[in-house]
Amino acid sequence: CDEDEKIKMAEFKNGKNHSTATSKTQNVTIHLFLATFAAVVGSAFQHGYNTGVVNAPVKILEKWIREVLKNQSIAAGEIGVASETFVNVILATIVSVFCFGGMIGGLCVGVVSEIFGRKGGILFNNIFVFVSALLMGFAKSQESIMMLIIGRLFIGVNAGINAGLIPMYLSEISPLNLRGMIGSSYQLIITVSILLSQILGLESILGNENHWPILLSLIVVPAFLQLVLMPACVESPKYLWSKGQEQSAIEALHWLRCTSDVQSELDLIKSESDAQKSAGKITLSQMLTNPMLRIPMIISIVIMLAQQLSGINAVIFYSTKIFKSANLSDDMAQIGTIAMGAMNVAMTLASSILVEAAGRKTLLLIGFVGMLIDTILLTIALPMAKSLESDVIKYMPVVLVIGFVVIFAVGPGSIPWFLVSELFMQNARPMATSIAVGINWSANFFVGLGFPILHSAMNSYVFVLFAFLQLLFTIFILKKVPETKNKTTEEISAIFRQMSYE
Ligand code: GLC
Repeated sequence: CDEDEKIKMAEFKNGKNHSTATSKTQNVTIHLFLATFAAVVGSAFQHGYNTGVVNAPVKILEKWIREVLKNQSIAAGEIGVASETFVNVILATIVSVFCFGGMIGGLCVGVVSEIFGRKGGILFNNIFVFVSALLMGFAKSQESIMMLIIGRLFIGVNAGINAGLIPMYLSEISPLNLRGMIGSSYQLIITVSILLSQILGLESILGNENHWPILLSLIVVPAFLQLVLMPACVESPKYLWSKGQEQSAIEALHWLRCTSDVQSELDLIKSESDAQKSAGKITLSQMLTNPMLRIPMIISIVIMLAQQLSGINAVIFYSTKIFKSANLSDDMAQIGTIAMGAMNVAMTLASSILVEAAGRKTLLLIGFVGMLIDTILLTIALPMAKSLESDVIKYMPVVLVIGFVVIFAVGPGSIPWFLVSELFMQNARPMATSIAVGINWSANFFVGLGFPILHSAMNSYVFVLFAFLQLLFTIFILKKVPETKNKTTEEISAIFRQMSYE
């Protein structure tokens, strides 16, 4: 912040008010950047990194599980070799227990964000990272599969809490004209950390017999960074105001905007707060029965389901197999997966800039229609690639898989995370976020468990199922999702009031 503004802010603290109306268009100040960076770098990292990290070294883990089970049976006086099915069940548990933890974490967002506050909750959540890193880091030396499973569960709880808390904090500290861009940074860091986990997980780096415990416990690095940076940032002004700490809310806003000229934003916070006072505390039954709350709740739930049931994680996890079935060598298939991760990052970055110009609804629609077309082509191309010799046809699935991830990144990847916060006022936001994020992780969990089963039953026709769901979600978005770009929370509420009369 420049010196003049620092003087003005100090004068404000001493009772001199310089405020005049602020224009609606604001820039990213250094403090807003710092708060965004501190929040996402530690938290979105855990979400993305732990989504991708066990993918590459899966064969190494499989071997280790077999060894541990063998040693245990020898110690118990039995000489036995663990059955393939048992090893696979353990492996599937290690992978999917992360999403189960995410479900639990997601459901806790409301409670955590109210008890500890947004900033306090973000800091508190790091406890799970350290416990998890200890468990996963020492699982190998202790020959304990259970430590690995519980470690993955804990980091899942951390990621679930993050997925609600961070977008909520980001949307509450952002000026109106930057809410989409700042909100998208959560998904941007998810994609960067998925890519990082794919690179670090290569056998030549950390995805090998000796180093996999380091690969899994690297999660402490961003946690440390967050513990250093976050205390230097402010609590959400909207949260402070809602707790009656008005002076602190004003100071937090001064800090974020690097100016004492925050009157128009303050007026918005005040009027939102007044509107809520008349509504009182929101209960679950009100959320389900009052149309003003039920409509945005249904939209939030469907958007979260749409993100996961689009099949994104099936495609992300299935990519290496598809690349191999297109006759690529193991090395080339890994490079293909990394290329896909890199494209995911690049498109998410572009989307975070586009979202303020094009709007949320347009990008969601482009994403879902694009995925629908891509999935139909993939369903046709997969069996053809297996039966025909032509090189062009063989590479089609590779292009379509990368294309799918790129189109997902246009909007369906980032928008659902912050849309929920945009749709609700302060008093309903924590509960709505809990429900929506809990649903997102549940759907993620079920796709992870169900996809391999469906795939072996239906083969590549499993994608027809995803295409059908994408069509339903496209129609829903077209008909029900309002555009929230550049609208205040009160303006968005007015849209739902109107919809509830229709
Ligand atoms: C979204 C999804 C997550 C997925 C990622 C891929 O964040 O919630 O499950 O792995 O996008 O980019």
